Amino acid sequence: MGSAEPDILKQLEIQEVAPRFDRWLEAVVTHRAVHPELWRGLRCAEQSSLHGRRHWTRVACLGLAMLRDEGVCRPREEQFMLERRLLLAAFFHDIGRLDEGRDTGHAERGERVFRFMALAVFVGPEDIESVALAIRNHASDPAVLRGADLVAACIANADRLDRARLYEHPMPERMYPELPWREWEEAAWEWATGG
Ligand SMILES: [Fe+2]
Ligand SMILES: [Fe+2]
Repeated sequence: MGSAEPDILKQLEIQEVAPRFDRWLEAVVTHRAVHPELWRGLRCAEQSSLHGRRHWTRVACLGLAMLRDEGVCRPREEQFMLERRLLLAAFFHDIGRLDEGRDTGHAERGERVFRFMALAVFVGPEDIESVALAIRNHASDPAVLRGADLVAACIANADRLDRARLYEHPMPERMYPELPWREWEEAAWEWATGG
């Protein structure tokens, strides 16, 4: 099991997440005129403190941390593939939000935006369905996937760990138990609450 320190999350942000998110955000800006839902996604990324880029970043870093802890014995190629998919899902998972409330349709909207943007952000056909599944199910109950999809489970767990930004702890029954989320709970809290 890895050591769950806030510094590790910060390193992941600087080295793995921020450069990709910069590139993808640029692509979204370029395409916003041709897809109406991209306008909203962009507004969310730039203006929302709850569901914008800072949240996407924490979800990406926490998801990566869990995926690496869980996959220490996994072949490198497979790990790279899973990490690539996870970062894409983290970036797009809340891009379909219309408001900061429950917004029950935002996962499907986010999936649509992702599918539209897939070519523009260089997603190969082998990755599209996995990323789409993770976006579509990020707010679903764990029973929906029954732990079958690792990327989707990482995104859902990371999203719930980042409820710390609302000063809420994740509900254990809503977490995918096959991932080491408890090890990252304290670091997630510290990062999201700034203390
Ligand atoms: Fe969401
Ligand atoms: Fe989210």
